[in-house]
Amino acid sequence: MVQLTLPKNSQLVAGKVWPKPAGTNRLTEYRIYRWNPDDGVNPHVDTYYVDRDDCGPMVLDGLIYIKNKIDPTLTFRRSCREGICGSCAMNIDGTNTLACLKSMDDVSAKSVNVYPLPHMPVVKDLVPDLTQFYAQHASVEPWLHTETPAPEREWRQGRGDREKLDGLYECILCACCSTSCPSYWWNGDRYLGPAALLQAYRWLIDSRDEATGDRLDDLEDPFRLYRCHTIMNCAKACPKGLNPAKAIAEIKKMMVERQF
Ligand code: SF4
Ligand code: SF4
Ligand code: FES
Repeated sequence: MVQLTLPKNSQLVAGKVWPKPAGTNRLTEYRIYRWNPDDGVNPHVDTYYVDRDDCGPMVLDGLIYIKNKIDPTLTFRRSCREGICGSCAMNIDGTNTLACLKSMDDVSAKSVNVYPLPHMPVVKDLVPDLTQFYAQHASVEPWLHTETPAPEREWRQGRGDREKLDGLYECILCACCSTSCPSYWWNGDRYLGPAALLQAYRWLIDSRDEATGDRLDDLEDPFRLYRCHTIMNCAKACPKGLNPAKAIAEIKKMMVERQF
């Protein structure tokens, strides 16, 4: 059997246990992945204690508490704090999700275990490098393509056609789905992944778009589209309740239908 070993400097080692805040018994333990590309130290898991009487209920509140009150070097992304911007996506309690939507009380383990989104290069601590992910999104040209001269006012769309975009336009590009997809883990440089494909489908079925054929041609490739093996992790992971696997299946159906 093949023996796989990580290079020594990438192996996870024990981290620091930070002191408990004084004067409280209502504590939640956080175990957080730490890695700084500049200090030459191996990645490690640090332990912190959050005072629940001095902190909001969400996992993101705990991270902000730690950064503000215990360790200002802890690095993570966040912006809206209400599940809209997608920037606080990380792996919590073994699942990719948004830290601002995940309650500490819903964590099943004894401690809140927090890691960066899996299988992406790490910039620092909980911040993944999403350069390739965004480039893949851009490659599906997620904007309206038209040949008809632009109308004097807006491009019109009937109610029924508008409803076809429900379940697609709500995507916030958090990358929880793509980074939970085994096909994307192994072929992320060539397979577009569920998030970019959901966006591709969103434009394919937009009644106002006039580039359907070109869009399908662009996806007709053994890797870009067909690496999806319907494993369904993506739909399970999406914190917005979207179903990228279904969108991918619809694209495959469009590919078949255009042959006839
Ligand atoms: S259904 Fe397709 S895109 Fe979703 S996790 Fe499985 S292989 Fe990945
Ligand atoms: S489909 Fe869901 S999980 Fe995937 S990027 Fe969009 S919002 Fe995030
Ligand atoms: S901070 Fe914006 S989605 Fe969590």
